[in-house]
Amino acid sequence: MDLGEGFGCSAEAWPEAYGLPLHVTFLPPVRNNLRDFARVFRDLYPQGSIRYAVKASGHPALLAAVAQDGAGADAASPFEVRCALQAGIPAQAVNVNGNAKDDGLIGEAVAQDMLLVADSVEELAQVEAVARSQGRQARLLLRLSGFALGEVTGASILTSGTWSKFGIQINEIQDLLENLSAFPSLRFLGLHAHIGSQVTRPEPYLAVLGRMVELARALKARTGRCSILNLGGGFPVNYLDRPAWDTLLRRLAAQDGFGWNGATGGLRAGADGVLDASRWHGTAFHSPWPKAAMLRAILQGQVQVEGRALGTLEALASLEGPELMVEPGRSIVEDAGITLCTVSQVRRVASAHNLVAVEMGITSHADALLEGGANRWHLLGGPAESEPFETFIAGNLCFSGDLLTPFKTSLHRRPRRGDTLVVRDTGAYSGHFMASNANAFPRPARILVDGDGKVTVMKLRDRFQDLFNQ
Ligand SMILES: Cc1ncc(COP(=O)(O)O)c(C=O)c1O
Repeated sequence: MDLGEGFGCSAEAWPEAYGLPLHVTFLPPVRNNLRDFARVFRDLYPQGSIRYAVKASGHPALLAAVAQDGAGADAASPFEVRCALQAGIPAQAVNVNGNAKDDGLIGEAVAQDMLLVADSVEELAQVEAVARSQGRQARLLLRLSGFALGEVTGASILTSGTWSKFGIQINEIQDLLENLSAFPSLRFLGLHAHIGSQVTRPEPYLAVLGRMVELARALKARTGRCSILNLGGGFPVNYLDRPAWDTLLRRLAAQDGFGWNGATGGLRAGADGVLDASRWHGTAFHSPWPKAAMLRAILQGQVQVEGRALGTLEALASLEGPELMVEPGRSIVEDAGITLCTVSQVRRVASAHNLVAVEMGITSHADALLEGGANRWHLLGGPAESEPFETFIAGNLCFSGDLLTPFKTSLHRRPRRGDTLVVRDTGAYSGHFMASNANAFPRPARILVDGDGKVTVMKLRDRFQDLFNQ
């Protein structure tokens, strides 16, 4: 595997220059992913717009590329907003999301005419007070939750059910609509729903969109307006191709030592006590509709509106073609990122299984924490051995949950101390998302590499004084 492949850069110099572990994001795939979403809208629904979810990975240089490709931003903190503005994204193209926005963030959003996504009925009163004090009207969407979708992704990344800290429950919307006159400083432009992340089937999107169209009709009847429907993010990526995903399911079902300590991942036993490889719960690692293909499937799908089946485009037309916004994060940056780390120990565990310990903790590889760690790992250098080396991979932190792969990974040879391992698909919610100084390890460096091989440092590796504020 050539790290700098196609980018004209000398990747060999990176470990020396920035230290390992190191997170690398390549800009060309980021742009291709954004353009794929834009193309789907151009083909099927030109009123579509993209607001890249900065939380997936944010830096002014990355966001400058997003701005050049005509996308806006979904920001969830004051510094995410600042990153987006500094990168040249117009304030009107910034969505402000979050279930606990501080007064400063609300004040800036109102003053600069950003699009506030209101997360609760209680928040409406807070935004109303701020907007009134500024003598302005706040542009606003109502974020919805309380959808009965079942298990569409992992519990920790599902954000739209009944037990959700996000959004206004859909069964409260009718009462709210009757009370909108209590908020004269709010301009209700439409509705928002973010189902969750890594949603691997179109059905949940279509169910949510159908309900949104019904509620949008009700909003329009009250206010004369519903000009934006925002479907959030959640578009999936393929951590594994179909054969690798099938192998993972088969081996977990066979319980042949593929899962750590007998773990079966998302597989559950049926009433007969037998594990069924066709029934997986939680985050799936493969989708037939990855990234922008999911948006296409949604636009070409059917929704139920007031008991009638309508094509998605027909349902949108019934609302006079509102702007359809999406907020993709993972699907834009995940497959643009890799992580490099160093092999420390190669040993046996439970007398029978290989375990590679690396010089990187799970806090620097949050993919394993959030999604369950199905990323592909590669060992750099050396000829392949006749038998692949199957192993679990553990981090260097002092708690047992610091396991980077709960399923065995296959390497082309036995690793040695000092070797470099590369993890694929780590561009989103990984290097920065849970980064901490656990055990006083430095948070790792992150770099952005453009199409000419030029490196922008997104974050330097911490030094001693960065940990202890000297
Ligand atoms: C409101 C909102 N929009 C968009 C996203 C991006 O989701 P994803 O990265 O799965 O596309 C998130 C992520 O949590 C979110 O909370």
